[in-house]
Amino acid sequence: MRRLFPLTAESASPDQLVDHEWGLDELADAYAYPEAAAPPGEPAGADGAPAAAGGPAEDAERPGRAWLRANMVSSVDGASWHDGRSHPLSSDADMRIFGVLRGLADVVVAGAETVRKEGYRPARARDAFAARRAELGQTPAPAIAVVSASLDLDYGLPLFTDPVTPTLVLTGAAAVAERPERVERARAAGAEVVIAGHAEGVEPELVLGVLADRGLRRVLTEGGPRLLGQFAAAGVLDELCCTLAPVVAAGEAPRIVDGPRIAVPKRFWLVSVLEEEGFLFTRYRREPAGRGASGGPDRDDAAPDI
Ligand SMILES: NC(=O)c1ccc[n+]([C@@H]2O[C@H](COP(=O)([O-])OP(=O)(O)OC[C@H]3O[C@@H](n4cnc5c(N)ncnc54)[C@H](OP(=O)(O)O)[C@@H]3O)[C@@H](O)[C@H]2O)c1
Repeated sequence: MRRLFPLTAESASPDQLVDHEWGLDELADAYAYPEAAAPPGEPAGADGAPAAAGGPAEDAERPGRAWLRANMVSSVDGASWHDGRSHPLSSDADMRIFGVLRGLADVVVAGAETVRKEGYRPARARDAFAARRAELGQTPAPAIAVVSASLDLDYGLPLFTDPVTPTLVLTGAAAVAERPERVERARAAGAEVVIAGHAEGVEPELVLGVLADRGLRRVLTEGGPRLLGQFAAAGVLDELCCTLAPVVAAGEAPRIVDGPRIAVPKRFWLVSVLEEEGFLFTRYRREPAGRGASGGPDRDDAAPDI
């Protein structure tokens, strides 16, 4: 793997420009969440305490809220899956980055269809991230948060019965009221059912609010496309890590963001590009406040600060 962008002396060490296998630490440094300065000895909140000190950098427009990063893989012609799974588009390096992004997150948010189709298991506590997570006050493994309105999930799976960190089920108030037996099954399995919407479904802003209230501010979503479409349309997507796979998949699969129309396409800034075996590992962040596309700043002036 090698770095293709940025290539300035400050952002890339000479060895990153040479093709070599990046260790997990090197990748974790490259993908670190933008942290607010935390006073020494005051880690970001675990066990439900709001992460007032430390945690992802504050957003001046939405203080106290979580930082939402998405990680997705797309074929070069825009498909988000092949034969119903993302795996045919992936690679060893993509899976390594997938694991690193989990290793950095407080919580992984996934749509119920992705959980059902991809057979989600609990996130692992990995030695490689143990010290880093302990220092930040994170649980040994991120919680998985499944977004569902139907609550039609297999609560007998290890995802619910045997996680390192209890699994959350994010849903709407009406879904809880209408499906008490499914709520009961989720709770009996050990999951926490969390309301993040007034009707059947969750509302994107509320999702980030209820997670932040639990001290879960380094949020990673792994899609799927329909869930990510809602986060994007609501304007709460902070960062998109997109692997561009050098394959043409054709077929009927949607793009990685499949949601309501956005009136004006949102501008994102390129943060970094890594490459291995023709796979491009891109990272974009949403345009900082006050840097509108029209009359915007010079590119040099607008270099992202993460
Ligand atoms: N290329 C990639 O990186 C990537 C990543 C992830 C997934 N995938 C692929 O994408 C496919 C699944 O994605 P998808 O877009 O069809 O589905 P999805 O976004 O994973 O899940 C959709 C489901 O999530 C729940 N949901 C979504 N929005 C909700 C809301 N506002 N409130 C409550 N529940 C909500 C609903 O679950 P209920 O039906 O339970 O109500 C809905 O049916 C799979 O084939 C998977 O392999 C690809």
